[in-house]
Amino acid sequence: MSASKKLFIKTYGCQMNVYDSERMAEALGEDGYETTEQMDQADMILLNTCHIREKAAEKVYSELGRLRALKDENPDLKIGVAGCVAQAEGAEIMRRQPLVDLVVGPQTYHRLPDLMAKVNAGQPALDTDFPEEDKFEHLPKRGKSGEALPKRGPTAFLTVQEGCDKFCAFCVVPYTRGAEVSRPSERIVREAQGLVDRGVREITLLGQNVNAYHGHDQGLAGLIWQLAEIDGLDRIRFTTSHPNDMDDALIEAHGTCDKLMPYLHLPVQSGSDRILKAMNRKHTAESYIRLIDRIRDARPDLLLSGDFIVGFPGETDQDFEDTMALVREVGYGQAYSFKYSPRPGTPAAEKEDVPGEIAQERLYRLQELLGEQQRAAQDSMVGRDVLVLFEKPGRLPGQLIGKSEYLHAVHVMADAADLGQIRKVRIEASAPNSLSGKLLAG
Ligand code: 5AD
Ligand code: SF4
Repeated sequence: MSASKKLFIKTYGCQMNVYDSERMAEALGEDGYETTEQMDQADMILLNTCHIREKAAEKVYSELGRLRALKDENPDLKIGVAGCVAQAEGAEIMRRQPLVDLVVGPQTYHRLPDLMAKVNAGQPALDTDFPEEDKFEHLPKRGKSGEALPKRGPTAFLTVQEGCDKFCAFCVVPYTRGAEVSRPSERIVREAQGLVDRGVREITLLGQNVNAYHGHDQGLAGLIWQLAEIDGLDRIRFTTSHPNDMDDALIEAHGTCDKLMPYLHLPVQSGSDRILKAMNRKHTAESYIRLIDRIRDARPDLLLSGDFIVGFPGETDQDFEDTMALVREVGYGQAYSFKYSPRPGTPAAEKEDVPGEIAQERLYRLQELLGEQQRAAQDSMVGRDVLVLFEKPGRLPGQLIGKSEYLHAVHVMADAADLGQIRKVRIEASAPNSLSGKLLAG
């Protein structure tokens, strides 16, 4: 098997897609592909797509349109669409854009080698099943046995749970990723050990609803404690969580598990109980605030992150002010905020939208407030000593970039030998999107 064919993957959307792209590259590696960063040198281009917000499918079709020129130049070029748009659109993609050779959903990419055999035989290859078998068990192993797998950077994503049974009224995930499925903890521990053997020191556990994880009898906390026993694994993170699944053990772990990092992404979406109800969130603003208080009691320095949607159908000025009030009360170190976008097939899509300009104005005000909070949280790090895991060289010679425990990017003048190491850094300055500091001895 010669690794002479080049694969280019473009990844859209969430971290789960980043993880899937990596696993798809590994699966296609068995087929003789190695990844390239240059699209125009690729023998195969794979778009790993996201369907979460509006025009997702349209964006994919226009990207495919742009690939026409490359395919004209190189008729042997293979083009595939993976991810959530592939799942949602299925065969429609090949009908609308005949240059596509392959459509594969998020649950079947372990079958890529078989699908490629079809592609190579000139047949259309489409697979958007929700199969019985566990795809992870059919992918190339990531442990020591797979010596062929190269050494890698010090941080990795690891999907532990997929799908969602919550059915928030705005969200496509239950339709594109299906019902909630948790991977058994032994398999996750095996994969984690394999990553650590290859130099990984920080693992972010992924799931659309990761804290609903039930592949361990003590839930996500149980899995975290089990992973914490792996020598050489120094940092554990997880995302994304639902407030209603923050159980006592998980809250407590934030105070007692040294390897669990003091950063939590816990979306609330809105601060208005009326809107939360319409969103089918099954929690109130007050219950969310009480929950945050409990988590901060366990880990006072926790940096909190969240997601917000403005302009959900029926949102009044007062509802929006309730969201602003919640943000002021809670205080976020980091956040994502979106204008509501109707997704066909979801319950909210049937309702009347808030006028675009009003939603835009609200989004602007919310982002201004969240931006101020984010900046203040980052600025408050100046003068503090933090532990930084160095991930990559910086732009300046002799500079490395790493992440603090709070997930702030930190720029430091340091020796290349510190790559992959965790070192103590005194923070000296805060720039718009990063901190900088100096290495401390020891
Ligand atoms: N419109 C706008 N934002 C959405 N999100 C999910 N669905 C929609 C939608 N239809 C946001 C939510 C979620 C994040 C991943 O994307 O805030 O937490
Ligand atoms: Fe986008 Fe959701 Fe699919 Fe992730 S799971 S790629 S956020 S639609």
